[in-house]
Amino acid sequence: MTKDFIALADFSGDQLAALIDRTIAEKPAYLAGDGARPLAGRTLAMVFEKPSLRTRVSFEVSMNQLGGSALYCDNSQIGIGTREAPADIARVLGRMCDGIMARTYKHELITELAAWSPGPIINGLSDYSHPCQAMADLTTVKEHFDDLKGRTLVFVGDGNNVARSLAVGCAKLGLRFILASPKGYELDNGFLERVLEEHPGADGALIRSPTKAVANADVIYADTWVSMGQEGQKERRVEAFLKYQINDELMAAAPDHAIVLHCLPAYRGYEITDEVFEAHAGTIFAEAENRLHFQRTLLAVLIGEGGIPD
Ligand code: CP
Ligand code: NVA
Repeated sequence: MTKDFIALADFSGDQLAALIDRTIAEKPAYLAGDGARPLAGRTLAMVFEKPSLRTRVSFEVSMNQLGGSALYCDNSQIGIGTREAPADIARVLGRMCDGIMARTYKHELITELAAWSPGPIINGLSDYSHPCQAMADLTTVKEHFDDLKGRTLVFVGDGNNVARSLAVGCAKLGLRFILASPKGYELDNGFLERVLEEHPGADGALIRSPTKAVANADVIYADTWVSMGQEGQKERRVEAFLKYQINDELMAAAPDHAIVLHCLPAYRGYEITDEVFEAHAGTIFAEAENRLHFQRTLLAVLIGEGGIPD
């Protein structure tokens, strides 16, 4: 059993596939309003160092749908590491709540909370990774194509937290992961090479040219060029990524069946044009909705069933 959900690297492809399949299987009952409510009386603490729409709402609604409740703890109030040590926060929340979802700058803060918390810790985005996002994305891909193995996902833009989680998720679930990033913004320190080496049969590459990268894409993926915490680098990032915009010209280089995903929030006119965004709004908002469906499964397993089975 694994009590936390911190990194996709901690799980096998079979474990991740089982979570996706369960999400898809249980979704209709919750959409109809008659899903199971196994977390009655249980509470999730949600600790945020950064802003959020989807993550906060999807975790809170998930807990409500499971019969429990969620509590928003904003860092301006709880002062992680300033008002109170992370180890103490984790132990207090561990005595009052049944799990903690944390969105942080430093990834190490999430692992520190996990070391001290008796209950599950869920990574709701760190500077390093965003595993719940990648799982909602892969759920969306599976729903759209009915399969995952052999599909090609092309991430166009910054080699960031979302790209890192998608690279690992794709390697575990048999998708080809292509990263199209400008020099200096690719996944750092040989991350992609290492992921490919560690997963026999995994396929992927860094392709500088976005038009070449999308040539065989099933999924074209966009995220902001300026992640939370990088606002001071906006000018130089926008300049570096100008040729990496997902626009009609890039879409013309992709197969007709390719879908577009965006983890949101979207900055139209930067990483994606308004035209492409609106043409693919169906998959993009299905993806956002799947944050709710995937995380509801995750909470039911972690809080209700004691962890993710081996
Ligand atoms: N995609 C995502 O995590 O959105 P929020 O930052 O709004 O939570
Ligand atoms: N890479 C983005 C994702 C936002 C959901 C960020 O970290 O700000």
